[in-house]
Amino acid sequence: MSLGFRLRLFAVSALVVYLACVLADEIATGTLARPWFAFAIGAALAAFAITWLGSRWFGTELRAVTESARALEASHSEAIGELRAERDLIAGILDGMQEGVLMIDADGRVARVNPTLRDILLLSNDVVGRAVFSVIRHAALMELVELARDKGIAKSTEIELGGLKPRRLLVRVVPLESGEGALLVVFVDVTDLRRLEVMRRDFVANVSHELKTPVTVLSGFVETLADDSFDLSSAQRARFLGMMAEQAKRMQRLVEDLLTLSALESDGSPPDEQPIDMRPFVERLAEEARALSAGRHALETRIADDCRLLGSAKELHSALSNLVSNAVRYTPAGGSIGLAWRLEGGRGVFSVSDTGIGIEARHIPRLTERFYRVDSSRSRETGGTGLGLAIVKHALTRHQAVLEVTSELGRGSRFSAVFPPARILPAGEAQQAA
Ligand SMILES: Nc1ncnc2c1ncn2[C@@H]1O[C@H](COP(=O)(O)OP(=O)(O)OP(=O)(O)O)[C@@H](O)[C@H]1O
Ligand SMILES: [Mg+2]
Repeated sequence: MSLGFRLRLFAVSALVVYLACVLADEIATGTLARPWFAFAIGAALAAFAITWLGSRWFGTELRAVTESARALEASHSEAIGELRAERDLIAGILDGMQEGVLMIDADGRVARVNPTLRDILLLSNDVVGRAVFSVIRHAALMELVELARDKGIAKSTEIELGGLKPRRLLVRVVPLESGEGALLVVFVDVTDLRRLEVMRRDFVANVSHELKTPVTVLSGFVETLADDSFDLSSAQRARFLGMMAEQAKRMQRLVEDLLTLSALESDGSPPDEQPIDMRPFVERLAEEARALSAGRHALETRIADDCRLLGSAKELHSALSNLVSNAVRYTPAGGSIGLAWRLEGGRGVFSVSDTGIGIEARHIPRLTERFYRVDSSRSRETGGTGLGLAIVKHALTRHQAVLEVTSELGRGSRFSAVFPPARILPAGEAQQAA
């Protein structure tokens, strides 16, 4: 009750009491001239006072009730607003998650799936409401679902799904505390991770295998040379030392190739791009091929279009010279090798063709894998590490170019590096004048 209201209440009460006293006094002393009139005024005042006070009191009460009802409504709508915002936030989080999420209700039906899980499992839009067993048919997963529902135990497992999109998934099933028997299942796609792990294991095994032979040969020779009980002639010593030098070179080549490969893999694009005049570039490669062949092959160079290629001369030379050295190494003496540069539909094509041993079709898709060789002994004999085409592929990828291979067993092969039109520039002034 406010102070103003209290003062007004006091004034009205005082007036009523005063009038009642005056009236009583008049009646007692018998001086009342018009008793009915005085009574009427008194009753009217009393009625007015009661009505006014009542309305004030009830008004105040009513206002208090209305205000608390309004406050209640406001707090309810605030709570509803908060719940909605929370629901939208959870929906946003689920939709944006990289992990697949599945919610199962107490009846074992799908309550919710996020877009990632739809994508991983190629689920249709009508899975919500369907029995979870009919949506994901996987015995190990269902065992976890039952364990979580019956015993309240959260557990993870890794499962393999076949079908259109084979996947390896790490799955965790967790009972939801808020819902009786409701479960949350989280799927993490580990397909690429597992593939990388296998690649890494294979890579380490391959490198160790490649190093094992030269290291064994080297240490054998070192032991022999160090052992005084072997009475070696100087010719024998020289032969051993020559073989040791060969194995050391082999290890050096392997390490260099590995370093080149890792540099190509770690950098995004070549740092030293420049317009390369293709005529001198191809002629230099042809010179190197001649030196390598040492007259054992007929060599032909054809440059159909004088133009320039935007790229790293160093990287492209090291990659494309591997195509040239392969042609020389895998073409028996008497065969022929051709180097060519031409434009095809705006794209630049550098190709190396040979009449060599050729490659069976089944090997072609795997040629750019590290250490992949069709015939390991022949490759090793000629000093190959099996990393050459892996390096070519990476260097070309950094130039948005692709490697195309056509080959026929016993007849020969053609390896082409195809560059996008964006990298082809008109010939330089000096060349145009020539
Ligand atoms: N022109 C070709 N003719 C026939 N086979 C080839 C030719 N080029 C490559 N190959 C096959 O592809 C394999 C992979 O070639 P790649 O250049 O990667 O390795 P490499 O030549 O054995 O060794 P290096 O690392 O020294 O290049 C070779 O071992 C060979 O079997
Ligand atoms: Mg090679």
